[in-house]
Order: sequence, then structure tokens, then C-alpha cells
Amino acid sequence: MSDGSQPVLEVEGLVKHFTIGRGVANSGRVVHAVDGVSFSIAPGEVLGLVGESGSGKTTVGYCVNRLYEPTAGTIRLDGADITHLSRRGLRPHRRRMHIVFQDPYSSLNPRMTCGQIVGEPIRLHGLARRSALEGRVVELFDSVGLRPELRFRYPHELSGGQRQRVGLARALSVNPSLLIADEPVSALDVSVQASVLNLMRDLRSELGFSCLFISHDLATVEYLCDRVAVMYLGKIVEVAPREELFARPKHPYTQALLSAALEPDPDLQRTRSRVVLEGDIPSPIEPPSGCRFRTRCPLEHESAPRSTDEEPPLVDVTGRGHLVACHLVRRGSEAPRLVEPSPELAGAPDR
Ligand SMILES: Nc1ncnc2c1ncn2[C@@H]1O[C@H](COP(=O)(O)OP(=O)(O)O)[C@@H](O)[C@H]1O
Ligand SMILES: [Mg+2]
Repeated sequence: MSDGSQPVLEVEGLVKHFTIGRGVANSGRVVHAVDGVSFSIAPGEVLGLVGESGSGKTTVGYCVNRLYEPTAGTIRLDGADITHLSRRGLRPHRRRMHIVFQDPYSSLNPRMTCGQIVGEPIRLHGLARRSALEGRVVELFDSVGLRPELRFRYPHELSGGQRQRVGLARALSVNPSLLIADEPVSALDVSVQASVLNLMRDLRSELGFSCLFISHDLATVEYLCDRVAVMYLGKIVEVAPREELFARPKHPYTQALLSAALEPDPDLQRTRSRVVLEGDIPSPIEPPSGCRFRTRCPLEHESAPRSTDEEPPLVDVTGRGHLVACHLVRRGSEAPRLVEPSPELAGAPDR
């Protein structure tokens, strides 16, 4: 079990490549979905993983949960190396991590009642006697705001929001130390997204689990996460505590993402200049050499000739856990400014 100092999750140099098109003309092409990603999650911490669609977020989540076999790297859960454990070897670790999938329509077994779905992990891990199981399931339904009689219904009889609550109750049924939530609200109607996010926030403060929270939506991440990692084309380009990242983004990609996100306060919106990225995210089959962001980077590259042949390492530029992978952001220096800070942050020291 984790004590206060040991991370719940440690991911080091994670690589996941997919070989596609076997047996056809373009056989053996390799998708560099995740290409050397490292991060850790402390007990009780929620780490947000954000980035555009196709940046490799789900692949990271699936590797951590061992739904995918990592190509290289190490995954440690509560200090135990689970990177290449067999199904059998993984079994004792399974109850310590659970995943909530993006799509509540396809991720719940349609042949089981919602009560059976929620109770199944408890049963599989032998965590409650038969007589106590029903009571525990009712308790779990209550904790995710579902009426207990819904446990006799099948997933198709529930709304999307209710189904995602069932998914959450199932994931939390065995008190995992790590919850992996892969875009848990993006398949839901906007009107129910907020209530499910509120629920996650409440459950998190009540139960204190750690969470890898995957989302393409910055507002969601800002609402829920303690720290944020930004992914671009299979790499993490920036990591920082939430407030630091949103107030002083340093990587030009993060700055572009932030400026593209809708700013709900029109006064703040006026003070921000927009950074619009040109073009699409390049193919992960042939990612750009050197800095992967260089083909879309709005910064001047004459001052960074290394960007074509040298990958920028992810380094702590503040000495306080603000990591950036950019040739143009140097330790201790101001980030090249693309986004004007909002007025109340303008005078804040960058240290
Ligand atoms: N099973 C797979 N086989 C081949 N390519 C895959 C597979 N899963 C994901 N990819 C590719 O890997 C890249 C990252 O995908 P994904 O992790 O789903 O990104 P995200 O979750 O950030 O949208 C994409 O280019 C995607 O097409
Ligand atoms: Mg995804």
C-alpha cells in the first residue's frame, strides 16, 4: 500500500507503437502512439492528461491499466512493477486500479443488470459475503446518486448520465487507489456533464483516490485536476500544477490550446490574443524529427536550429515542478509570450 511519500503510479519512458497493415501493401507501418512518456501521481492527487484527439491519451491510459501491452518503459503501481505481468500476475493488482471508459453506451455489459455490473468486481475479488453484497451495491448506488431500484434495470434502460454513474460505482466498488478516467463525460449531453463532474469531485474528496483524468477539454481539467500534463503527438510537452499551468503556460502548444478554449469571462477574453495553430496534427506514422511541434509552432525557429534534429527534453524550468519540453523555453527565463496574461495575473512574479 502507498504511504504518504510513494507515488501511487509511476510511469517511466512509456512507449506504445502499433504495427498496422500487416499482410497488405503498406505492411509494417508503425504508429508512434506514445513515444517516451514519464509522469507520476501522488496519493490523493488528480493528474489531468490533455491534448488534441489522436495525441495518445487513451493509449497511455490503456497501457497503465494494462489493456495494452507497452512496447517499452516501466509502469509501477504502489511501487510494484506491473509493466509486463501476465493476467494471472496482474490479478492481485487489479483491484487497486480501475478504469472508467469514455463511452458508457458500449462499456457496460448489456446482459447484466446494473446491480450485477457494480457488484461484479467485489464478487470477483471476494471482498464481500453474498449476504453483504446486496447492501454494498445499494450503498454504491446511493454514493453515485442513483436510486437503488435502478440496480434491477439493464444498461439500455438508463440514460447516458445514469450509465456513467454505474460505470463510476463499478470502478469505485473495490476502493481502488487509482482511478483512470478516460474522457468520462465527453460522450454525455452537455447538460449532464456538469453533474457527473460534480459527482467525481465530491467522490474524490470523500474517498481520496488518485486519478489519471484524461480529457481533451481544458475547462474540465481545470475544474477537477491538481496537476496537468499536456500531450502532443505521443509526448508530454508540459506539466505543471493546475494554477501555474493556466496562469503561466510556457509551451507554445499549451498557450495555443488555452487561447483556443472558450474564455467564459468576456473581459478576460478581450485581453487575450488568440494563437491559432495552422494545419492538422501530423501523422504519428511519420512524426516530425526533432521537436514534434515544430511544423505547427508559431515561434521563430531561426533562434532554435536544434529543433529539427534534437528532441527537446522535458525539464523543470522553475525548479518547482513546472516541466516544459521546448528548445525556446529556458530554465529561469520568461516563456516566449503568445498569450497575454489576464489583468489580475499580469503583475504576478514568475517565480
Ligand atoms: N489499436 C490501435 N491500432 C493502431 N493505431 C492506434 C490504435 N489505438 C490508437 N491508435 C493510434 O494512436 C494514436 C493515438 O491514439 P489515442 O491514444 O486514441 O489518442 P487520444 O486518446 O489522445 O485521442 C492515434 O493516431 C490513433 O489512431
Ligand atoms: Mg482518447
